[in-house]
Amino acid sequence: MTYNKEREDDDTDNMGVLLERRNLMDQSSVLETNARTTHPVIFQTPPTDSALEIPVKFAIVGDLGQTYNSTVTMLNILSATKRGMQSQGMTSSMLQSKQRELQKAKSILNHQQTPVSALLIAGDMSYANSIQPQWDNWFNLIQPIASRIPMMVAAGNHEIECDAETFVPFLAYENRFYMPNRIQEAKIDAVNERYRNGPWGCATPSEFMGNYDYGNAYYSFDYGMIKTIVLSSYSDTRKGSPQYNWLVKELNSVDRHKHPWLLVMMHTQFYTTFQAHNNEEQTTIMREAMEELFLEHGVNFVFSGHDHAYMRSKPMFRGKVVENGKAPIYIIVGEGGNREGHVKNYLHEEPEEWVAVRDKTVYGFGTLEVLNATQAQWKWNMGGVVNEFNDDVLFTNPYM
Ligand SMILES: [Fe+2]
Repeated sequence: MTYNKEREDDDTDNMGVLLERRNLMDQSSVLETNARTTHPVIFQTPPTDSALEIPVKFAIVGDLGQTYNSTVTMLNILSATKRGMQSQGMTSSMLQSKQRELQKAKSILNHQQTPVSALLIAGDMSYANSIQPQWDNWFNLIQPIASRIPMMVAAGNHEIECDAETFVPFLAYENRFYMPNRIQEAKIDAVNERYRNGPWGCATPSEFMGNYDYGNAYYSFDYGMIKTIVLSSYSDTRKGSPQYNWLVKELNSVDRHKHPWLLVMMHTQFYTTFQAHNNEEQTTIMREAMEELFLEHGVNFVFSGHDHAYMRSKPMFRGKVVENGKAPIYIIVGEGGNREGHVKNYLHEEPEEWVAVRDKTVYGFGTLEVLNATQAQWKWNMGGVVNEFNDDVLFTNPYM
């Protein structure tokens, strides 16, 4: 891992986040003074190599924003970092009224005992859209979480944010975050006229194929039994591209004895049951190039946002269910609560045969708790509402 010391010194606005990054890399728990508030904070780092097999729980969300609903999601994640999920409305409701699911509830109670140890955000974070004080505000909102646990992020279309004078995209994303295991400094080209004059302006084109490589675009990190590969939907993904070549190398280097669980996170979704962002050009190109790699290398879960909704697929490949379970499960977690609201429509009234669960009505976030090399619990946690919809499932690792 590398750490850019100069960058920390030059950027006091980002001191809190940068300290967190350094602490993650140091792999030790520390007490630091937060630059903004002067309150002491305790930061939880990944387990050391000798403690790799302890249970780990990630909170995973996309398209967070900074609305009332975003802050409810953040508060619930913060609560989960401290004492598990006991305060969640859905869980207490289940315990009180769902006697028929007693066995399941017992399993959830066990599940609650591990606090969330890292937050993964699948892109579209602040919705600042080039207005930099809105990034500052978003960091103030997320700081109680980001000052406790690692916050690992992916680039969404709301991170494109072309500079008004130079037309260079992703500058806020590159300057406000510093992800580990970067290959080299970011290489970014100014965007062409298609994006400058596009229907969304230069800030958030939903489809984008400019030139953005390295930096925070794609990287990986290890946490306990989990290896996570973060990809950029908005960089070249074709066979032979820098990102593709890096991905092949990265997948070839995974040691499943050490990291039995393999995750991928990116902003756009290979498969969706919603109308909003179906078959966007850069995503179909990416799926065409990379889906086979995910299958060959036994990726367990692929997390995306972009659609402001929740969906979990069955194990699948090339649009078909894989009956023996040895294929990635695609999960959309774009219900963080941003200002654009929920997606409006499903593609089809009846769920596709590869859809396990779908919903477009309730904000929330997911938790993935890896219990050991063979079992992991996935739960969709909704924002304090009592609702019949629920998704809580214990997965067995088909590759172990
Ligand atoms: Fe998006």
